[in-house]
Amino acid sequence: MSETEALQARLVGDIEAAGDLDAIEALRVGALGKAGTVTGLLKTLGGMTPDERQVEGPKIHALRETVTAAIAARKAALEGAALEAKLAGEKLDMTLPATDAPKGSVHPVSQVMDELAEIFADMGFAVATGPEIEDDWRNFTALNIPETHPARAMHDTFYFPDKDAEGRAMLLRTHTSPVQIRTMMSQEPPIRIIAPGRVYRSDSDATHTPMFHQVEGLVIDRGIHMGHLKWTLETFLKAYFERDDIVLRLRPSYFPFTEPSAEVDVGYKQERGRRVVGGNGDDEGHAWMELLGSGMVNRRVIANCGLDPDVWQGFAFGVGVDRLAMLKYGMDDLRAFFDGDLRWLSHYGFGALSVPTLSGGISA
Ligand code: PHE
Repeated sequence: MSETEALQARLVGDIEAAGDLDAIEALRVGALGKAGTVTGLLKTLGGMTPDERQVEGPKIHALRETVTAAIAARKAALEGAALEAKLAGEKLDMTLPATDAPKGSVHPVSQVMDELAEIFADMGFAVATGPEIEDDWRNFTALNIPETHPARAMHDTFYFPDKDAEGRAMLLRTHTSPVQIRTMMSQEPPIRIIAPGRVYRSDSDATHTPMFHQVEGLVIDRGIHMGHLKWTLETFLKAYFERDDIVLRLRPSYFPFTEPSAEVDVGYKQERGRRVVGGNGDDEGHAWMELLGSGMVNRRVIANCGLDPDVWQGFAFGVGVDRLAMLKYGMDDLRAFFDGDLRWLSHYGFGALSVPTLSGGISA
């Protein structure tokens, strides 16, 4: 056996016996690396006579190819085996019953927001959003709440220590109404939007949490009046509570950003310790409960957004999403909404696949 043949037999034997990828790499360096045995043989070609080279050249090159191929084959086999072992270790029996598997559920607030989006989409409303960190111009000033206005104090605002680049005070929005400003400044009327989201006020008891959810409604068009507002709210509440006997009472009120303003009450009846919405609040056994704030968008707010109030009018409303959820699904403590207690969530939560649709029944 020639030296080349002996080396080939030894190298191929070692390669085939290599037990892991590190061993293969060591063999590769030992044979084909800069100081490797095969590389060394290749270097001897330079010192040979042409005749010798004609005989030895092909043999040495064949040796290099054989060794390279053997390494590649062994490497592939080892990698395949490693993958098989990994897959076997990660095997999951899909036929096992999912008794102890964790089960997620949709939070009632998310569910109600989905219900609202579905109901208002049917009336031609798009969903708009705005940031929870706002500036005081959009949260107050543009909404006709000037610096000295008592409404600023009423809102128990969380302020940030620093002002923004334009020198405006930054705060956690105290209501979703700044989305009215953002929408009117970025879209051409006609506008029909709802804006659900988180709002913040420094307040905390059984019915108030420092963070809660509102949904804002805004319509801007020509010739809009309070009748459109009342019809829209009535249609929305009938769809939301899934009953036709919803009776509204519009009570004169005051918001700086609407004029005239109306607080909207809804008739309800006390049944088995909870309020059930429906019926005329003046009827026997019924009462009124305040549900939302609303009004015709103040001319000043429309003008603040660069629109001509002689051309464009509209209405706006704001309602607490958490409150809506409590009324429909019967929770009595708002704080539990944000405790993250799994027992509460699995009791009041909704299946991820029960998407609200008007055709399927909004809460089905
Ligand atoms: N932003 C008001 C609030 O938070 C609600 C409201 C919205 C009232 C729109 C009128 C119009 O109390």
